[in-house]
Amino acid sequence: MRLSARYTKFAVLAPGTGVLQTATGSGGDTGTLNGAAARTEATFLRSLDELGRLEQLDRVIGPLQRAVRGLPLGRWRDVLHGLPIGHPLHPALVQLPLGSWMSAAVLDLVPGTRRGARVLVGVGVLSAVPAALAGWVDWAEQHEDQMRTGLVHAGSIAAAIGLYANSWVQRGRGRTALGKALGLAGLCAAGTGGLLGGHLAYRQAAGPNKAQPVPHLVAAGWHTVGRVTDFPVGEAVRRELGEVPLVVVRQPGGHIHVLADRCSHMAGPLSEGKVADGCVQCPWHGSVFRLADGANVRGPATAPQPAFQVSVESDGTVRVRLPDAG
Ligand code: FES
Repeated sequence: MRLSARYTKFAVLAPGTGVLQTATGSGGDTGTLNGAAARTEATFLRSLDELGRLEQLDRVIGPLQRAVRGLPLGRWRDVLHGLPIGHPLHPALVQLPLGSWMSAAVLDLVPGTRRGARVLVGVGVLSAVPAALAGWVDWAEQHEDQMRTGLVHAGSIAAAIGLYANSWVQRGRGRTALGKALGLAGLCAAGTGGLLGGHLAYRQAAGPNKAQPVPHLVAAGWHTVGRVTDFPVGEAVRRELGEVPLVVVRQPGGHIHVLADRCSHMAGPLSEGKVADGCVQCPWHGSVFRLADGANVRGPATAPQPAFQVSVESDGTVRVRLPDAG
């Protein structure tokens, strides 16, 4: 298949020059762009990455993490993680405050909409509370570098909430111009927080399902993982299936269960976790998965573990197959 020149264009930094060169696969047009844009982009990304290395934040992170983990949330903690919807709840909840605040900014430009703008500012402040709570419980179960970026993200959003709350008060006192200015500052803070949230989610992979690639890495069909006697009853045993680690558990009744070993939350090793009541508990943050089907019984994981079908041959060979593999 022949790609058009438009889609074969690529760009490289010329070695040692800082100059961005562009070319097309067809050789149709070549040229150079000033490297300043590329350098600015690289500096920007580097400074975002640098947030994850700010060890000075760790003095605050430790006590905060303990405080968030100590909140008496009961089963609501899993709801805030997003367990019932199968993915983190925080990104869904932030739509309301951000949407309200952006709409208020638009209304601030439209004459005669002062009341509506103030209502939207207030709705944004109130709806930011559950969104922030969901974010905090996720944050408390992340890796160090993610928590450092997350803390700066939370600081930006806290500033936005404070500015918007003040904006709501000032608008109520008739100081509309001041209220609008505070709203604009709040929108900048919320935008910065949103940018950091995106960096955290996509570059630092704080929220995605870490078990998602498994069906793409396992070949279709049946694979041998050992013999029944290789698996002591009630113990989690790690096996490799190509690039994919597995956790194999032989139950007291003789039934053998096999799940992907890397936890869907942060890729923790389930084979090093506790086995009890037909479940395995991740040693890193305590997510609990049912051995029979990989369903997650307790968060912070929100996605299930890939569960393999198991066949025991007459000679004791244990074979596994992932139904949607390949
Ligand atoms: S890695 Fe966090 S619960 Fe498993």
